[in-house]
Amino acid sequence: MTAQIIDGKAFAGDLRAKVAAMVPAFRAKAGRAPGLAVVLVGEDPASQVYVRNKHKMTIEAGMESFEHRLPADTSQDALIALVHQLNADPSVDGILVQLPLPRQIDESAVLAAIDPDKDVDGFHVVNVGRLSTGMAGYVPCTPLGCVMLLKDRLGDLSGKDAVVIGRSNIVGKPMAQLLLAENCTVTVAHSRTANLPEVVRRADIVVAAVGRPEMVKGDWIKPGAIVIDVGINRVPGAGPGKTKLVGDVDFAEAVEVAGAITPVPGGVGPMTIAVLLRNTLVAAHRLAG
Ligand code: GUN
Repeated sequence: MTAQIIDGKAFAGDLRAKVAAMVPAFRAKAGRAPGLAVVLVGEDPASQVYVRNKHKMTIEAGMESFEHRLPADTSQDALIALVHQLNADPSVDGILVQLPLPRQIDESAVLAAIDPDKDVDGFHVVNVGRLSTGMAGYVPCTPLGCVMLLKDRLGDLSGKDAVVIGRSNIVGKPMAQLLLAENCTVTVAHSRTANLPEVVRRADIVVAAVGRPEMVKGDWIKPGAIVIDVGINRVPGAGPGKTKLVGDVDFAEAVEVAGAITPVPGGVGPMTIAVLLRNTLVAAHRLAG
């Protein structure tokens, strides 16, 4: 059996088009476009690519994009001062501080400074609390995108056995909360989990978010399971100096066993920005009243 390939790129394109189609109604109501502020500190090459794509797709959706690029030696106080300025700016509905931050800056202090009602990344402790108690708030973009792909494929997720591999604040933990809210039976596995292949083999839904290239092997997958690969790992490619992107799942093996699987690239990755734009439109409506 060969798995169906889940086309996250196409799904994300449709979601961005839907968001863009809803922007004119907000403009008519509020007399302005929804605004997203993105803050990048330093020169991390991967972060620069993400921020450039966010800017381009925000504009394409008919929204206002405010980009703030700060030098790598920016102090924590200066960054927090900028966040306070964006909190107070009525043309800004969503604030995203690109992670990771340089080592002199305490990430949690910066995230805590963001107005929870403009926290379109869903990283503020207030939004983490809202998610875990079932209150309306903002949900981190990547896991929300994964759930959208899963529901598109499976419909109701109730009663499914789900294994999330990875316990990060950005993906693993919020992913587990979202699957729990969808009535899945959720296991969160991590680097200290005993008998990981056996644990994964129980799952109807596998979400891999560990950042280890091709760690999840084909014989870890229950035949017919849905595999969502959040990993984006750059590894040596064919030929000298060449690199390629691979996920946390050994795609060539897993595709022979799974019922459906997200590829890397073109699976989960494109969903993050699409959900970010969706969260920003939601924030704009809530703030405009
Ligand atoms: N770095 C990697 N993923 C993300 C994300 O979703 N949001 C932010 N702010 N930084 C990231």
